[in-house]
Amino acid sequence: RANKKALFLEIYKKAARYYYYSLNQRENEHALNYFYQRGISQEVIKHFGLGYAPADYNIFYRMMKQEGYEDEDLVESGLFIKSKSKGVVFDRFSDRVMFPIFNINKKVVAFGGRILGEGQPKYLNSPESLLFDKSRTLYGLHIARQEKHPYYILVEGYMDVIAMHVAGFTQTVASLGTAFTEGHARLLKRHTEQVVILYDSDGAGKKAALRAIPILRSQGIQVKVLQLEDSKDPDEFLKKHGADEMRKLLEEAESHVWFRIKEIESQYHLDLPDERVKFLQEIAKLLGNLESSIEQNIYTKEIAMKYQVSLDALEAEIKKYFVAKQ
Ligand code: CTP
Ligand code: MN
Ligand code: MN
Ligand code: MN
Ligand code: MN
Repeated sequence: RANKKALFLEIYKKAARYYYYSLNQRENEHALNYFYQRGISQEVIKHFGLGYAPADYNIFYRMMKQEGYEDEDLVESGLFIKSKSKGVVFDRFSDRVMFPIFNINKKVVAFGGRILGEGQPKYLNSPESLLFDKSRTLYGLHIARQEKHPYYILVEGYMDVIAMHVAGFTQTVASLGTAFTEGHARLLKRHTEQVVILYDSDGAGKKAALRAIPILRSQGIQVKVLQLEDSKDPDEFLKKHGADEMRKLLEEAESHVWFRIKEIESQYHLDLPDERVKFLQEIAKLLGNLESSIEQNIYTKEIAMKYQVSLDALEAEIKKYFVAKQ
């Protein structure tokens, strides 16, 4: 088992080197230009070990065979696929720009590959393996953890992490499309007490933020949420507005409680009495389920004032939902 891990680490390292080398080959200029067009310089390519898997369907496979690797191991590594019909082995990634995924020891354990233009799937990721557990891996953590940061920033994608790091926010990590899990939260808790969620500004990003909040809170992490208004994600925002604007927004990021309240509020017409009642009942449920009773106390008072309901009534409603926690 230990040998197998070492073997896979060796295969991923070879792969990362090969993709990096290929990116800088004259015939693959289009791939390098793709990165340049997205504002990724040679320095950033090196820092993140970015690369390119050539269009030829088995060029990397042939290289690995020449080096003496066995089909079985290559396929098990996840970087190669064996066709069911003919049993032919070929590269999983072709004609994609490559993002190596590192574990916290800075070893490559997986890859994500992006199509150069439009097309499906936009990103292809290598499968989970002995070394790669998606729900315990955060892209960018191997760099973020090198320094102490007052808080971490959680984004959705590879390009967001890279753009944020380039802009100086080296505490940015991504859960890479997979739903944020308890494993991710545990991992973050080892490095920080506070997380700002900065997901894409579409409906999916908002939903994913609402799901991530209780998972982070259950690990005792303080949570803030920042929603971008005029850009679809942090990468695009930084291109439009730059790092200083981003820094300002991060400083103003709102508490997860207000983010959740606003979300609930958007579902009701507060000028209609019946809807107001339902709204406040939902808010009471939210408050009753908050992980911290201090938080609960503070927000209960604020909400009673803001929505003009008596504190007694609100507290009575909250008690119905209150989950006692020591
Ligand atoms: N993702 C994935 N598979 C897909 C689409 C997305 O694994 N088919 C993951 C990737 O990690 C991606 C993240 O989800 O980075 C966010 O997806 P999306 O917002 O669609 O992509 P971006 O990161 O914004 O990519 P780009 O800017 O290159 O379009
Ligand atoms: Mn998205
Ligand atoms: Mn993007
Ligand atoms: Mn995006
Ligand atoms: Mn309504």
